[in-house]
Amino acid sequence: MAALLRTDPGAVAAAARRVMDRCDELARVTATDDGIERVYLSEEHARVNRLAARWMREVGMTTRQDAAGNQVGRLDRVTPSGTPDPDVPALMLGSHLDTVPDAGRYDGIVGVLMGLEVVRMLRAPCPDGTGWRSPLPFALEVVAFSDEEGTRFGKALLGSSAVAGTWDPDWWSLTDDDGVTLHEAFVGFGLDPARVGEAARRPEELAGYLEAHIEQGPELDERGESLAVVSSIASARRFQLVVEGEARHAGGTPYDRRRDALLGASEAALAVERICRAEHHMIGTVGQLETYPGAVNVVPGEAHLSLDLRGELDGDRDRVWGAIERELDTIMGRRGLRWRAREIHSAPAVFCAPLLQDAVREGIVSTLDRGVDGPATIFSRAGHDAMALGAVADVGMLFLRNPDGISHHPDEDVSAADVASGTRALAEAVLQLAAARG
Ligand code: GLV
Ligand code: MN
Ligand code: MN
Repeated sequence: MAALLRTDPGAVAAAARRVMDRCDELARVTATDDGIERVYLSEEHARVNRLAARWMREVGMTTRQDAAGNQVGRLDRVTPSGTPDPDVPALMLGSHLDTVPDAGRYDGIVGVLMGLEVVRMLRAPCPDGTGWRSPLPFALEVVAFSDEEGTRFGKALLGSSAVAGTWDPDWWSLTDDDGVTLHEAFVGFGLDPARVGEAARRPEELAGYLEAHIEQGPELDERGESLAVVSSIASARRFQLVVEGEARHAGGTPYDRRRDALLGASEAALAVERICRAEHHMIGTVGQLETYPGAVNVVPGEAHLSLDLRGELDGDRDRVWGAIERELDTIMGRRGLRWRAREIHSAPAVFCAPLLQDAVREGIVSTLDRGVDGPATIFSRAGHDAMALGAVADVGMLFLRNPDGISHHPDEDVSAADVASGTRALAEAVLQLAAARG
């Protein structure tokens, strides 16, 4: 299909430059002296929301911070006769502005900023200067989600779950490392926990959700390709595991009298790797490990570890968790240890809607001039806000090449050239969707 977007290469290059500069600007909003860390309901969260709101207004959007702290920009459809048409559903573009600890500067952020550049490209002023005359059959929204990573409270996708209407009241008692509950943090941020339901959108309000994101893995880089269509997003479960043994004197306790929780936890981490490696498209990570009492001369009496489990399909993920549970029973039994698990996050695999996949594919093809091969279609091993939005809207995703596949690390990168192609492809995808809706 022919390209629908009418814009010049200079405008696309300027858009990409703005995205890169703004990623740098947002990277300076951090809670740490060096490195980047921005978590949900923090001072840094409030600051990046203010910046995003300013940039949303700059491209003509009206703005609001929703009841869960997500920053929302909206451009109503305006009919060709110049009448605002606020009741049509919105096509939502977006991603998140929160980060992991010691993060890169593009994960999530680049998708929000690209969404704003798409609005800038598609916007045509009304003759009377009051709004936007759009050939689109939907409104456009850009959402900067407030918590995708789950860095502060362990539970991921809090911001987008509120928008999807899947907020679980059990989450209010989740605590951060300082013992602050999610409920208390809401109040501290100036939000009213009783009103979180007001962030929820109804399916009939949304024409779909489109997210651009860096790949966070090496597939595109290894294939020498810059953009891809996402077919689905991996299902995920996260657990906090506790291993209980007995703390005793490090010198005086013979090996056959020890019940060392750290050694049990270490064997558990190795078992996770072994079991997942034997599977197709399963990956498990132990990213946190703490021992108690944590003294150099005491056998660890207790170990706390995290487990992040991802699979292409929910059934495989759950079957593998069952295998891990059985293996941990064996390991801990042999070592005289007890163990328990608390599940802190669960998200099913989400499949991108064929219509949105087609639109993204057309967007890439018309941007990169791809011939018969077409762009790569890959499944996302990382989690995204689109997973939560899948409960309330059709979702689609566009991936950008991530050099060396490194993400959740300060060296995370994306090139300005790929951001330029990606932004153009995203704008084109919006127009393809508009054409498909008629
Ligand atoms: C988010 O980046 C995740 O996949 O954990
Ligand atoms: Mn991330
Ligand atoms: Mn992300």
